[in-house]
Amino acid sequence: MRAWNNVKQGDLVYSGKAKSLFRTDTDGELLVNFRDDITAFDGGKKDVLTEKGSLNAKVSARLFSLLEEHRIRTHFIRSLDDSSMLVRELEMIPLEVIVRNVAAGSMVRNYPVREGTLLDPPVIVIDYKDDSRHDPMLNDDLILALKILSRDELQQLKELALRVNIVLSRFFEARGIILVDFKLEFGRYNGELLVGDEISMDSMRLWDARTKGSLDKDVYRFEKGDVLAVYRQVAEKVLKKVE
Ligand code: ATP
Ligand code: TYD
Repeated sequence: MRAWNNVKQGDLVYSGKAKSLFRTDTDGELLVNFRDDITAFDGGKKDVLTEKGSLNAKVSARLFSLLEEHRIRTHFIRSLDDSSMLVRELEMIPLEVIVRNVAAGSMVRNYPVREGTLLDPPVIVIDYKDDSRHDPMLNDDLILALKILSRDELQQLKELALRVNIVLSRFFEARGIILVDFKLEFGRYNGELLVGDEISMDSMRLWDARTKGSLDKDVYRFEKGDVLAVYRQVAEKVLKKVE
């Protein structure tokens, strides 16, 4: 069993498509290990890319810290090594909360809007996280009818998602990157909603501000080039200090 300063890795709690969660020797704290697995199209396309896990872990850790600096509470406690972080165990809410600043991906596939159209104000789309149902889109009434959130929590969740969007969009803009869209997951912690899961190149759509080229998992989905090289490029920009 692996161990770090004051943290012992315990039993596996869950192994998903790209991350594994382990218990630790502290109740209520989990270890998240970012693996090198990459998948797309509901797991229909799968590969293992050495270093990908650590690049996503480092970017996630930096972005969670950035949110905390802006008083947005997240599950992140601290990084343990290049590909693992210690987090607060949340009661996860089965929603994929997507914020869109620019039309792309499923928005362009499903609706009459051209890729690259600026969305102002940003659009929030909430999907029900259930792979067996292919993550169907929800609306406010469905979320309340299914008792996934209370009316108050729904309002809070949307406000939080928009605050995260402002912080991340500015951060990326300062690094020559457009935050096109991204997905958040939330969980309850002592009655409060916290941002959980990850914020990485797997869960964001990022475009080079100059060339509009993809700097995210779309490079893998649509075989647009060397996905690891692109992930490294984003990680370098995210981890570098900018005035
Ligand atoms: P998807 O790729 O659609 O997110 P998955 O379950 O395969 O699905 P992984 O990222 O591999 O995704 O697995 C991570 C799992 O851990 C997710 O189910 C996520 O909801 C859950 N999770 C993330 N953060 C926490 C947390 N702080 N406490 C408890 N569970 C968490
Ligand atoms: P979206 O355009 O809806 O889907 P697709 O990636 O199939 O084109 O995705 C919007 C953003 O949310 C994109 O940055 C990827 C992210 N996302 C996830 O990380 N996980 C998901 O399950 C979904 C649906 C989206």
